[in-house]
Amino acid sequence: MRSKLVAGNWKLNGSLAANEALLRSLIRNIPANAAACAVCAPYPYLAQVRELLQGSAIAWGSQDVSRHDKGAYTGDVSAQMVAEFGCRYAIVGHSERRTLFGDTDAIVVEKYAAARRSGLTPIFCIGETLEEREAGATEKVLERQVRALLEKTGAREVAAGVVAYEPVWAIGTGKTATAVQAQEAHAFVRALVASKDGGVARDLRILYGGSVKASNAKELFSMPDVDGGLVGGASLVADEFAAIWLAAT
Ligand code: PGA
Repeated sequence: MRSKLVAGNWKLNGSLAANEALLRSLIRNIPANAAACAVCAPYPYLAQVRELLQGSAIAWGSQDVSRHDKGAYTGDVSAQMVAEFGCRYAIVGHSERRTLFGDTDAIVVEKYAAARRSGLTPIFCIGETLEEREAGATEKVLERQVRALLEKTGAREVAAGVVAYEPVWAIGTGKTATAVQAQEAHAFVRALVASKDGGVARDLRILYGGSVKASNAKELFSMPDVDGGLVGGASLVADEFAAIWLAAT
């Protein structure tokens, strides 16, 4: 049976002082029988996050990893490095990486494989832009992104990750997909995976991301194929994130 996961994506935000205040507040608010929860922090803070969260119910992860294991790749950070700091998760293919930093489908799949080589659980992000949705191309885009992974790694490897459906038009815009729109996309992705392996599809966590807030989390998470959320802006506000976590619990 699938269980829910709420993951925070801090993006390019935080400071030693702010992170500490945020995490201490979250730890104080851990719900009873809490759903799985993680925060994905900027690389330099992973040591601090580990220090504060180890032994708690909150896991942590990175927001990206290099597709390379080591070598002359100035500025890159390997999956092995973040694994050394206790990361359980690594986001790969976030739309900001895809659009601002040139991560293609092929690169994202390589990053997924790199994360797996180091024992991390990749959070594989997919999603359409507003133009693509308006052109009726949502399913085509999702299919391309998911097939890139399925065909390269095989369904068994997909089972070791988490998918995050994040419509680009909903990220950081305050414009959330309706629960019905999210459900449609999630069911489509699950069916795609099921065409390769029904068991993997049934157990695969598919998170929704894009302006998840305390006020809409419960409705989104009540949809049958929505297995939690990937939360950006609201993950920086302790009370908001705690309420979203509670909504998944
Ligand atoms: P948002 O970001 O919650 O601020 O819309 C979500 C994400 O980019 O993962």
